[in-house]
Amino acid sequence: MKNYKEALTHRIFEDISLSTKELELESYVIGGFVRDFILKRGKAKDVDVVAVGSGIELARQVSKNLSHKPKVQVFKNYGTAMLRAYDMEIEFVGARKESYQEDSRNPVVENGTLEDDQNRRDFTINALALSLNRETYGDLLDPFDGLKDLQDGIIRTPLDPDITYSDDPLRMLRAIRFATQLNFRIERSSLEAITKNKDRIKIISRERVVEELNKMLLSPKPSIGFSLLYKTGLLKLILPELTALAGIDEIEGQRHKDNFWHTLEVVDNISENTEDLWLRWAALLHDIGKAPTKKFDKKIGWTFHGHEFVGSKMVYRLFKRLRMPLNEKMKFVQKMVLMSSRPIVLSQDIVTDSAVRRLIFDAGEDIEDLMTLCEADITTKNPKRFKKYHNNFKLVREKMKEVEERDHVRQFQPPVSGEEIMETFNIRPSREIGIIKEAIKEAILEGEIANEYDAAKEFMLKKGKEIGLKPVTS
Ligand code: CTP
Repeated sequence: MKNYKEALTHRIFEDISLSTKELELESYVIGGFVRDFILKRGKAKDVDVVAVGSGIELARQVSKNLSHKPKVQVFKNYGTAMLRAYDMEIEFVGARKESYQEDSRNPVVENGTLEDDQNRRDFTINALALSLNRETYGDLLDPFDGLKDLQDGIIRTPLDPDITYSDDPLRMLRAIRFATQLNFRIERSSLEAITKNKDRIKIISRERVVEELNKMLLSPKPSIGFSLLYKTGLLKLILPELTALAGIDEIEGQRHKDNFWHTLEVVDNISENTEDLWLRWAALLHDIGKAPTKKFDKKIGWTFHGHEFVGSKMVYRLFKRLRMPLNEKMKFVQKMVLMSSRPIVLSQDIVTDSAVRRLIFDAGEDIEDLMTLCEADITTKNPKRFKKYHNNFKLVREKMKEVEERDHVRQFQPPVSGEEIMETFNIRPSREIGIIKEAIKEAILEGEIANEYDAAKEFMLKKGKEIGLKPVTS
């Protein structure tokens, strides 16, 4: 019998153990806490405890024995209870047997043994249990060889995978998510069962689907998850905009790249440089406008004209469908998609000051993120081009620094205000003010004048004269 006493040194486990004995029950730590301890993923703060008997009573007893008497939150419908103690959040459940109905992922529940409870778990690596009972404290109960799967990096279900996934289809996403987070392999019959049961994903709420997608996206190599979603057919049901990018067409010997696999490469690339979930979403969606805009032109070959604009509109519909936040995060993703080609164009060409100024002006505070996205977008397999693009980006970045230090267009504020224009020419709010302001901004971006008050004032007078305005003499 393997023993992992060292996983249970936190005071709370002693407390639970004592309460268990007082109630003459058995209890075990199970699931993610045990898995992550053995994987040395850092000690989890969320603990799941199974009691053979009432989990709710055990939670109450633990609270009674603690000096600060934490509040016990009871979820009657689920037969579970939760309390917070020290820095931990502990969820208690009575060991149970479950059976499922066709149209719901909420099972019919009856009391059971520890083994019954382990049977109902999603994966062997999540069914590992450590004893909290006095005589066997720390013993590992592992009826399905989950420890071996953990060591071999395998996702496997305790029971027939067809039943496990059909019972609770969320587990299909969990399997793929764990494979992504842990860089594990999903065992063959599981993968087949997921493919077979993919359509049952429709009974899962969109919020939960997104939660799993986010966890995949935040993994070190998100492409593991998205290629599994693709291969099992789940991706087409969840994000058809992405699967529409897959495939290569050929006309008159001209081919375009496979934009789906390209996208996954971009997401992996960007994940080496940012932990920001929304920037990673932007990478995932940056090319979605390419499917609806794809055309073949006899003279120039394959084109995707306006795909950035179309793509940024699609972002809204996609977020709405998946019940994702329609707030500034979405706007950020839209902006990144809309601007995703701008720096690339620069990097392929001669980098002028004014082009860089315009880029900084349009991207504003998000310029760094945009550059990160565009650098990740370089997936050419041609080493010469790869080097050239990266070198040009370096140039763009140097120029950005230089231009920004000099011209401060990143948080552009018009150097001459509307009020001053009105006072100077003694006019009321009118179209002319907009014209002059726009002309000043353009002159600054083009580098005709410096971004400063005196130059802008002079330019304003000149421009006013051009459109027939006269300054009032003071
Ligand atoms: N579980 C399950 N089926 C699910 C969800 C959870 O069998 N659909 C079980 C697993 O044994 C899991 C435990 O409940 O280990 C706790 O679930 P949860 O807290 O969601 O996941 P963790 O495994 O703790 O991992 P993470 O926090 O990364 O989601």
